[in-house]
Amino acid sequence: MTQAVQLMPEVEKFLQEPRKLLIGPEWVEASSGKTFATIDPARGDELTAVAEAGAEDVDAAVTFARKVVESRKWSGMRPADRGQILWKIADLIEGQKFELAQLEVLDQGKPMFMALAEMDIAISTFRYYAGWVDKHYGETIPSDGNMLLYSLREPMGVCAGIIPWNYPLIMASWKVAPALAFGNAMILKPAEQTPLTALKLGEIALEAGAPPGLLQILTGAGETGAALVEHPGIDKIAFTGSTEVGREIMRNAAESLKRVTLELGGKSPNIVFSDADLGTAANMSMYGVFLNSGQTCTAATRLLVEEKIHDDFVGSLVEASAKMKLGHGLDSETRMGPVVSAEQLDRVMGYVETGKKEGAKVISGGERGNGDLSDGFFVKPTVFTEVTPKMRIFQEEIFGPVLAVTAVKDVEDAINVGNDTQYGLAAAVWTSDVKKAHRVAAGLKAGTVWVNTYGIYDPTVSFGGFKQSGFGRELGRHAVEAYTQTKSVWVNLA
Ligand code: NAI
Ligand code: MG
Repeated sequence: MTQAVQLMPEVEKFLQEPRKLLIGPEWVEASSGKTFATIDPARGDELTAVAEAGAEDVDAAVTFARKVVESRKWSGMRPADRGQILWKIADLIEGQKFELAQLEVLDQGKPMFMALAEMDIAISTFRYYAGWVDKHYGETIPSDGNMLLYSLREPMGVCAGIIPWNYPLIMASWKVAPALAFGNAMILKPAEQTPLTALKLGEIALEAGAPPGLLQILTGAGETGAALVEHPGIDKIAFTGSTEVGREIMRNAAESLKRVTLELGGKSPNIVFSDADLGTAANMSMYGVFLNSGQTCTAATRLLVEEKIHDDFVGSLVEASAKMKLGHGLDSETRMGPVVSAEQLDRVMGYVETGKKEGAKVISGGERGNGDLSDGFFVKPTVFTEVTPKMRIFQEEIFGPVLAVTAVKDVEDAINVGNDTQYGLAAAVWTSDVKKAHRVAAGLKAGTVWVNTYGIYDPTVSFGGFKQSGFGRELGRHAVEAYTQTKSVWVNLA
């Protein structure tokens, strides 16, 4: 396989040793001594071994985090100083951007151009929240003249961030930056498939001057996550991942009444009307579904296209998808990498078989990458037409490069078919008719609606789900709700 880009010496060095857990000020092995392998999904090779944290390690991390919280070492620091540390984290990410991007490519499989763009999102998320450290005001409340009444916004305390493998450093930054900005400590558990950039973030936070114990990194799989959810010393869980695990987390968190925010799966409808700019719509719809090999919670996996343009539009989309050159993410020509793991490959190919059995028609892709791609977990961009709402490939989150196309008649039909799902994360509508655009945006049950664009994010804009796509909002000013609690103070002046 061609590999146009050489690995940076820093990356090679990072991968030479087994990686440890960050607990308090130190990098330590798991107390059980257990490790697991993280692999390069484009080749199936082991990159390095990583410590697998167990309940004892969770307990040790919680002890450190509680000390930071109870001592008010962080929440009591001058906001300007806290902001400086967050800003410094952003600067250090920026300084190591290429190194971090290479690690993300190796660990996750995505192409370099995406990994670089993702580092920029992580940087801007830390900078945005660096500016929030002194802006989560309380209120004074008019009441009886003999009382002074005010509210304070206080941190939740110790938060645990449990994150997925699709956008590892972005997901870490969306949770760590606001949690720290609002005065919390955080224990971060990256996904077992992609632990590497989170470990680098732990190094960076210490280097930036974060007090030891403020941000700790525990690597491991679902059991490590479950141990965090069960631990009584954790106040809040911020989770992004599958709806199934989200449900389990909520059930288990109920025992200790932890605060929970959940960003879960999606099956986002992307609606294209005949009066849209069809060239742009086809191109963006293609990226909307296939970018990151379809492993995006907001992926445009259901294309609802107006009947009369169906064949032509699908033709242009398939033509555009031929440009998605599959390959190793370090190869600069690569536009699409593999899916993240052998397990995910089986899952995606299983759905392709299901779709065929259900009577949908594969008009492109539908198979694994072959030739020199056969050692990796590659799936060709796959388009199914004649998909009906009853089919599993219409209803279930596949998390791979698989598009389900359904023809719709008009605005009302598009809204009904668009909402015919348990999910409600994102949606899009393409039209040049302003009224139609707003009617559809109002009718869709989704936390984000894009009009004549797709997949745009910004740290200033809040993000989260309707229905079974979860609850709570990340980013923007709404993250204040997720990471603080209010206290009302009554002062008797009489
Ligand atoms: P997952 O939901 O199992 O993993 C997400 C995170 O949760 C990981 O860090 C994992 O270690 C942790 N986790 C797993 N079980 C846990 C438990 N019982 N308690 C606490 N933490 C736990 O996702 P998985 O299995 O990697 O992927 C399966 C499917 O989930 C995908 O095919 C996709 O459909 C969906 N998914 C959706 C994501 C989204 O952002 N919407 C992200 C990742 C997966
Ligand atoms: Mg990996």
